[in-house]
Formats: sequence, structure tokens, C-alpha cells
Amino acid sequence: MKVTVVGAGNVGATCADVLAYREVANEIVLVDIKEGLAEGKALDIWQKAPIDLYDSRTIGATNDYSKSANSDVVVITSGLPRKPGMSRDDLIGTNAGIVKSVTENVIKYSPEAIIIVVSNPLDVMTYQAHLTSKLPRTKVFGMAGILDTARYRAFLAEALNISPKDIQAMLLGGHGDTMVPLPRYTTVAGIPVTELIDKDKLNAILERTKVGGGELVKLMGTSAWYAPGSAAAQMVEAIVKDQRRVFPVCIRLDGEYGIKDCYLGVPVVLGKNGIEKVIELDLNPEERILLESSRKAVREVMDVLENLA
Ligand code: LMR
Repeated sequence: MKVTVVGAGNVGATCADVLAYREVANEIVLVDIKEGLAEGKALDIWQKAPIDLYDSRTIGATNDYSKSANSDVVVITSGLPRKPGMSRDDLIGTNAGIVKSVTENVIKYSPEAIIIVVSNPLDVMTYQAHLTSKLPRTKVFGMAGILDTARYRAFLAEALNISPKDIQAMLLGGHGDTMVPLPRYTTVAGIPVTELIDKDKLNAILERTKVGGGELVKLMGTSAWYAPGSAAAQMVEAIVKDQRRVFPVCIRLDGEYGIKDCYLGVPVVLGKNGIEKVIELDLNPEERILLESSRKAVREVMDVLENLA
């Protein structure tokens, strides 16, 4: 199996590192526009192999997509990260052009690849990758829900003083402050979380989750990479190993949840063909209202993208 990660910045390099460490693919190509960066990071990850005992081969390339030819899965992390005070949507002007040209190169050399978008603003950059690649929605989708639920689960584990391993959660909507974490679908080893934590504490965690990316941007002056990189790698693993895992993933809705032509995070089954199935939950009226406001927020930015073209 061959996987390419485009963008050798913090997120892309973390993703490539996790893919190698977990031996998800035997060939992992890292591509970046900056001279020597991808080669250097790929070499560094390869030199870690004898220590961490993996045999996935990592190869770097400066803007040479021929090295990525015939990849099974491509992860696009390219684009600027946000700075304190910026929203993810503020990145659209710069990142749309970057994601467009990266996708053109990816498709030229790997027309059959499944594309996972990580660049921000996530939902709309996934739309951009679709517009450029013309791939069906089952083969071009975005990583956000695994990251957002991971933050939610980590905060809950801390509050409940239990292992994050035992927390299962689901979340819907765009990768922005209007995301919709679902306490009704959150359990701790099968126990509804609402039985274990009081309402105010849970609400505080839900609010913190919604701005989880921004919290890190404020702390570090740039955006996060460990959890985003690992989250993307987990999606690649589900595809490459045909695990049929159930994750929240950003996909274009074609009528599910009563929504059409909008890229939003919903639960899906992820396997060798990409998105094998979209799972439709029976939302209550309050959850529907929240999802609708998330849809509106994403749709507005999709319109901005359409007007850029
Ligand atoms: C994240 O959630 O960490 C990423 O989307 C990066 C960001 O700007 O928040």
C-alpha cells in the first residue's frame, strides 16, 4: 500500500510519522513545496525506524508529485495555519488556491486515490478538493470529527478521572465553533455520560470542545498538530486495512439529515472504498436546530469559495 501526505509541516509530518510507526503502509511519501523539508522529515522518520521497530519506508519530495504516483490514499494538509485572533474561515483566500493546485497534482499522478483533506477551513477545503478532483463524495472527504471528538473525550476523561479509552462519542456539523457534540450519543463503557457528570460540567466541556482548536492557537501562536496528525492517520488506517470503522467524517450530504449540497461531519463507515456508508441518526428537535445553524455557517463559506472562482 502507498500513502502520500502532502504538506510536511507539523500536521503532515505527524501524520506521516504515525503512519510509519503503526506500519499502516509500506510506502509513505511526504511532499512539500519548501525545498528539502519533506526529504528531511521523511529521512528523520526513516532513521527512527530501527529505534521504534517499523519497516514502513518514508520518502520525501520537493514539489515532485511523480514520487506520489499510484498512491492508494492521499492526505492533504497543505495551507497556512491560523494565528491567534483568526477564525479558520479567514484562511479561505490563501488555502483555497493551495488546495486546488495540490489536488490537481495529486489527481494527475494518482487518479484512483482516496483523498482525505485536513486543510482549513476544513469543510470548504473538502469541497474545493471535490471541485478540482471531480471524485465522488465517497472518495474525497475531510478529517475533523475524529479530532473534535478526541478533544471532547479527553476533556471528559479528565473531568471524570477515567481512561479516555473508555469514552465513546459522536459529533456532527462543521469543523468550527458551530460543531454539534452529541451528549445523547456519548457513553463511558456503555454508560450514558449524562449519568456520570452533572449538566453544568458537561455543558462547559461541550463549549470548550467547540473552541478546542482555538484554545491551542491561543496557547501556541499557531494551530495544533499531534491530535490532527494522528486523527488523519487513523482514517488512513481504517481505509488501508478495510477496518469499516465508524467515525464522524466531513462529507457532502446528499439528502441525509434533510440536507443537500453541504459538506458537514456525520458518522460514516470507513473502509477500503472510502466512505462505505453514511449513518443517519434520529436527531431530536434541539439537535436539528444546532445542525441547521452549523449547515448555514458552512454554506456561507462554501458560497464565498464559489464566488472566488
Ligand atoms: C484544529 O482544530 O486544531 C485545526 O482545525 C487547526 C485550527 O486552526 O484550529
